Amino acid sequence: MENSLVNLSSAEQALEAIRQIYGVDSLLLTPDGLILDYGAGDRSFSPIFSDVLPNRNIKDVFPAHLAERLEQALQMVARTGNVTPLEYALPDSNREYWFDARLIPISDSRIILIARDITACREIENKMKQQMQQLAILRSIDLAIASGLDLNLLLSMLLDRITVLMHADAATVLLLNPKTNLLEYASGKGFRSNTFQYTRLKLGEEYAGRVALERKLIHLPDIRADQIEFARSPLFRQENFVTYSGVPLVAKGRVLGVLEMFHRSPFTPDADLQDFLVTAAGQAAIAVDSARMFSQLQRSNIELSLAYDAAIEGLSRALDLRDKETKEHTTRVADMTVNLAARLGVEQSALVHIRRGAVLHDVGKLAIPDQILFKPGPLAKEEWEIMRRHPDIAVELLSPVSYLEPALEIPHWHHEKWDGTGYPDGLDHDDIPLAARLFALADVYDALLSKRPYRSAWSKGDVLRYMESEAGKHFDPNLLPAFLDLVKEGGF
Ligand code: C2E
Ligand code: SIN
Ligand code: SIN
Ligand code: FE
Ligand code: FE
Repeated sequence: MENSLVNLSSAEQALEAIRQIYGVDSLLLTPDGLILDYGAGDRSFSPIFSDVLPNRNIKDVFPAHLAERLEQALQMVARTGNVTPLEYALPDSNREYWFDARLIPISDSRIILIARDITACREIENKMKQQMQQLAILRSIDLAIASGLDLNLLLSMLLDRITVLMHADAATVLLLNPKTNLLEYASGKGFRSNTFQYTRLKLGEEYAGRVALERKLIHLPDIRADQIEFARSPLFRQENFVTYSGVPLVAKGRVLGVLEMFHRSPFTPDADLQDFLVTAAGQAAIAVDSARMFSQLQRSNIELSLAYDAAIEGLSRALDLRDKETKEHTTRVADMTVNLAARLGVEQSALVHIRRGAVLHDVGKLAIPDQILFKPGPLAKEEWEIMRRHPDIAVELLSPVSYLEPALEIPHWHHEKWDGTGYPDGLDHDDIPLAARLFALADVYDALLSKRPYRSAWSKGDVLRYMESEAGKHFDPNLLPAFLDLVKEGGF
């Protein structure tokens, strides 16, 4: 008695008071589980138990699992004298009711159970949880579209989330191969056998083939007795699937594939869930479509880039063939320039353009006649005029290739000088693009070390002394120290 919350002369009166005040179900119990009386609330026990309750034991009226929990709780209450909470579900013929109960000791031999029906709360809670999951799925698909996520990652993410939402035991995405017109396995999870990865289905064949052909969600509540042949895997029956749900992935009016879900116990998606599946499948289809376009675009860009680099190499080889003495020159000055640029912190993405520019720096010499280019002595005034056109010729030659636009600085301005006495434009100081200033160092260095038709090769000591003497005249004095370091450390 000492811990009881209620102290009324009659326990029955207590029940009636609780019922009237709170409108909740209540039972008067002994610690052994004998039901002495009950009060029916707004949603009373009576639709479930009618009037069988008084003078029965909880073991006889509640499902075994619940009765066990109730017995334990009653014993605990009797022992401790504490109010004890208990949440449980009671199945009706076609649904479950949820109750939030309190066991309240009112004397040593009497315990009151009051139970609030929280079924509606539960349903709202579950619905909200489901809505949140649905939103999260749509959002992650959208993010995947926006970020150009890899198709395989996208599909496995999608299956992870959809299986949680659907409580599905297994799921797969089959994509329609446009060449073969077959539905082919693209991603899957939850299968016991790994033979599903070889799935190839014709349109109309099996469940997925039907979904793709009919372009609508198909839900089959019990496929156990189906007499169809499972072309996807000889081990399909051993998966013991009970239900099948398939939705078509449709984007821009084309079926791209099928999303399938399997349950090993009965499951029926409600109308809301079915609507969501169709929506999610539509989003997923857009993601599949854009992931494919993205990877195609990437591939064609790489192919384009490879094709151009091959063309550049071809051009510079043509140059080398013509002027045997510059054969290794091109490679060396390109290596030195890129190396120097990297040391000075030029961004990685710019280096590829610098290399292309360096490789192509003298492509304009292709237009210089042999008798000038290979003249074994000093050039006459009019010969120089022609020779000095080679940078502009390079720009003319290369500018139609938009891909090479960022690589033109070096061919265009590699003969400009820091003090403004260079050509073709007489630029000085920082008006000369950095790439061209860097390149000039490598170009002159390598040219002087090489034999020319008009002179023999210089020694390395002479070349270095000459370069230092040109600081602030030909060369950017701020870059020269780094260049000299590179020569020392880089072994050039
Ligand atoms: P290149 O032989 O590849 O020389 C590139 C640059 O290195 C030259 O640009 C120049 O700045 C420097 N350089 C090369 N050789 C010498 C040299 O003996 N002394 C000095 N002080 N610097 C040198 P530049 O002067 O604008 O010449 C451009 C191109 O014109 C040269 O490319 C070469 O193909 C041609 N060229 C220049 N001078 C002569 C020449 O006297 N006779 C002939 N046949 N061609 C010449
Ligand atoms: C030239 O202008 O062509 C001489 C320097 C070089 O290109 O390498
Ligand atoms: C690229 O492949 O980087 C772009 C193609 C182009 O600019 O022509
Ligand atoms: Fe040049
Ligand atoms: Fe050169």
